[in-house]
Amino acid sequence: MGYGLEVKDLCVDYITENGGHIRAVDNVSFSIEEGKSLGLAGESGCGKSTIAFSLMRLHKPPALISGGSIKMNGQEILTMSEKELQKFRWEQVSMVFQSAMNCLNPVVTLEKQFYEIFKYHGITNSVKIARELSEELLTIVGIPGERLKDYPHQFSGGMRQRAVIAMALALKPSLLILDEPTTALDTVVQRDILHRVYDLQKKFNFSILFITHDISLMMEFCDTIAIMYAGKIVEQASAKKILYQPSHPYSYGLKKSFPSLQGKIEYMEGIPGSPLNLNCIPKGCRFQDRCFKSSEICFSQEPEKAFNNKNFYYCHNPLIYENEV
Ligand SMILES: Nc1ncnc2c1ncn2[C@@H]1O[C@H](COP(=O)(O)OP(=O)(O)OP(=O)(O)O)[C@@H](O)[C@H]1O
Ligand SMILES: [Mg+2]
Repeated sequence: MGYGLEVKDLCVDYITENGGHIRAVDNVSFSIEEGKSLGLAGESGCGKSTIAFSLMRLHKPPALISGGSIKMNGQEILTMSEKELQKFRWEQVSMVFQSAMNCLNPVVTLEKQFYEIFKYHGITNSVKIARELSEELLTIVGIPGERLKDYPHQFSGGMRQRAVIAMALALKPSLLILDEPTTALDTVVQRDILHRVYDLQKKFNFSILFITHDISLMMEFCDTIAIMYAGKIVEQASAKKILYQPSHPYSYGLKKSFPSLQGKIEYMEGIPGSPLNLNCIPKGCRFQDRCFKSSEICFSQEPEKAFNNKNFYYCHNPLIYENEV
């Protein structure tokens, strides 16, 4: 039995009002070993959150998982019953959502919200034990235990975010999904929170799927990075490879459109054009119209998976480097 997450050929559709569908996630495969972290990057609308929701089986119509397999520690998630899922969520996989700081119930103290989690998942019915466990979790994310008595509005945005992360870790899940967990926070607080999460990862050995637009943040925290474009993973490689020698022209463009925090000041190039409309997928490569390396074949044939050691990409005209990092 494999430990960690394994996603194979995942397809997710959104059913449109006229009965048609758009495929937001198209044959996506990736895996995250126990204790490792994968960063998922790509422009807005490329399908990152749709993947995250699939891993928790949280989709509601009009979304539909139409194919593939998702295994967590060898167990298939896509065939689980609703009852099995209730146990599985938060115990095996938990998620900090985009705009998570607004997820807390504003009229309930933090203590009560933690208590409900422990009670619902059969950890304890004792208020006292739940309080001790919650205090420990809050302390780990840097919030004094006595703040449990407070309501969410009495916390700053950064503290609320940290409280949500503490809750996501309450049941020691095997996989933690962070979907833009710190976007609304300043960069110092962002890094502080992420450092705390990654310290915890070392302690508890859970896997992390980290979704963000901020590719420099991802480089700092992730072992491996998967780059998505228009519903597909176009490249997956070590953070170092994506940073210094990306193979796919889109990965190169994405990296170039972020300022680097260290080193010399570089001109930010950006990527010309706009993201693909998923209603009209062209023949060939999806990135064809925006790519500085596209040639005739890119307009007629979809690129196949090509390997470079453990890294892979889908591109007819990849960037080639003389000495590999
Ligand atoms: N409820 C929905 N109904 C129809 N289409 C949807 C729905 N939710 C998402 N989509 C479409 O699915 C695609 C992927 O959306 P998703 O939210 O996964 O993107 P994302 O990569 O997380 O973007 P962002 O970086 O902005 O969060 C988009 O084209 C979006 O328009
Ligand atoms: Mg999203």
